Amino acid sequence: MVKICGIGAGYVGGPTMAVIALKCPSIEVAVVDISHSRISAWNSQKLPIYEPGLEEVVKQCRGKNLLFSTDVEKHVHEADIIFVSVNTPTKIRGLGAGKAADLTYWESAARMIADVSKSNKIVVEKSTVPVRTAEAIEKILAHNSKGIKYQILSNPEFLSEGTAIQDLLKPDRVLIGGNEEPEGQKAILKLKSVYANWVPEDRIITTNLWSAELSKLADNAFMAQRISSINAMSALCEATGAEVSQVSNVLCKNTKLGPKYLNASVGFGGSCFQKDILNLVYICESNGLMEVANYWKEVIKVNDYQKSRFVNKVVTSMFNTVSGKKIAILGFAFKKDTSDTRKTPAIDVCKGLLGDNACLSIYDPRVTEDQIQKDLSMDGVEWDHPIHLQPTSSTTVKQVNVVGDAYEATKDAHGICILTEWDEFKTIDYQRVFDNMQKPAFIFDGRNILNVDKLREIGFIVYSIGRPLDQWLKNTPQQA
Ligand code: UDX
Ligand code: UDX
Ligand code: ADP
Repeated sequence: MVKICGIGAGYVGGPTMAVIALKCPSIEVAVVDISHSRISAWNSQKLPIYEPGLEEVVKQCRGKNLLFSTDVEKHVHEADIIFVSVNTPTKIRGLGAGKAADLTYWESAARMIADVSKSNKIVVEKSTVPVRTAEAIEKILAHNSKGIKYQILSNPEFLSEGTAIQDLLKPDRVLIGGNEEPEGQKAILKLKSVYANWVPEDRIITTNLWSAELSKLADNAFMAQRISSINAMSALCEATGAEVSQVSNVLCKNTKLGPKYLNASVGFGGSCFQKDILNLVYICESNGLMEVANYWKEVIKVNDYQKSRFVNKVVTSMFNTVSGKKIAILGFAFKKDTSDTRKTPAIDVCKGLLGDNACLSIYDPRVTEDQIQKDLSMDGVEWDHPIHLQPTSSTTVKQVNVVGDAYEATKDAHGICILTEWDEFKTIDYQRVFDNMQKPAFIFDGRNILNVDKLREIGFIVYSIGRPLDQWLKNTPQQA
């Protein structure tokens, strides 16, 4: 029986290993993590992450061929294939701070593998890593090998949060990169045979190691670039009277471009896009490719611009001050159907409003109060771009209320900001909301999910990204 060990029980490792267990009943899958609280949550009724369909998969396999444990060394020792899905955040200090990936967790996992292994292993990179990480890992393992042979494969994960289980069950592609020597090819075939249990062969792409590593960074960078492109267009639409949803609809129908990642928004978030672009920028700079580095930097600059533009729109429309005013924040997660807040645009928008002394009343269907307070009181890692949205951490907590539903959040508020596209925000009784708000009542739709005409009929003053401005807003002097 093949044994698999997944190191790292996070957003990537947890769901991925669970689906492998589901689809490969003859494989024993152990998911290990150094975090006791994470592992005990995976073993409980309330899983540590929210992901539609995940609970069912875990319940089906846990105790059969899927187990969660903190006994990292035991399961690594027993495994034939080890997937490494540990976190690779952006470095916060030292060489490459703010851009390069921090491989501390990866390196410590690799050293532990070398310490405890007594048989040959295939080590699979699942977490996104800088190009040529495999080479570094190979060196660590080889120099501590005690005669054991390791094959390193790059098998980046393409799942999106909120649809992770569907993405894993029906992936559009599985990418496996490996060493071009016969031993490397043998390892590729072994991993391929695991996926072949449920993924059609023509969807499994094999490449060399470096292409696989770079493809993952490129993949995320291209998606982010499309969002920044349409967001840049949204600013132009507002200035000219064009409508960004109409423009994106036209682009979507262009078969040369394809229909996805063209929704204008308050900005992209999530743990991957910014981190991977910064990583790409760092690699370009390290290779002396400054023009290429600058090209990708602009994607992040436009994303930052979109968030600060949104804050400016809120403040300027509300008579140039939100000081002491209650603003309802609907949605805090970086997208719908997830409880994840990593790099959510809501953090920057809320900090911007707090910087102007607003009082925030926040509601998100899945994000806990604890998480929101933590996100808003922490100073984010800043990259080498202008810091624009920084309140002081002590005032933040006092000015932030996290509440249990949208009606409570909006009661007596002067304005509403929609920051996540949760479906339930589309079906709120906006007449009731309007009746209970201060007047004039403003709505700033950062996700373009609301029916602007209906809201204006009710009496709201509406700002919606990339759409012609409300007459009211048009006549309000805008600050530079
Ligand atoms: C383009 C648009 O495709 C078309 O919709 C518009 O109406 C006019 O402009 P065209 O200029 O005829 O059409 O050629 P296109 O096939 O789009 O190629 C433009 C340039 O991009 C060419 O030099 C082509 O060689 C280059 N190209 C295209 C690439 O370098 N790489 C590609 O992947 C595609
Ligand atoms: C992304 C990639 O899609 C996935 O392939 C990779 O493995 C991890 O990173 P994820 O971060 O979960 O997945 O979410 P995604 O759906 O791609 O959205 C990222 C951000 O972009 C979200 O904040 C989302 O709201 C935003 N977005 C997405 C837009 O603003 N407009 C769009 O058209 C699409
Ligand atoms: P991702 O979104 O990439 O899955 P997460 O932060 O959600 O990232 O998960 C990464 C997990 O890896 C965390 O639960 C962390 O505790 C775990 N981890 C980090 N280093 C190690 C290690 N050396 N051994 C085991 N687990 C680790």
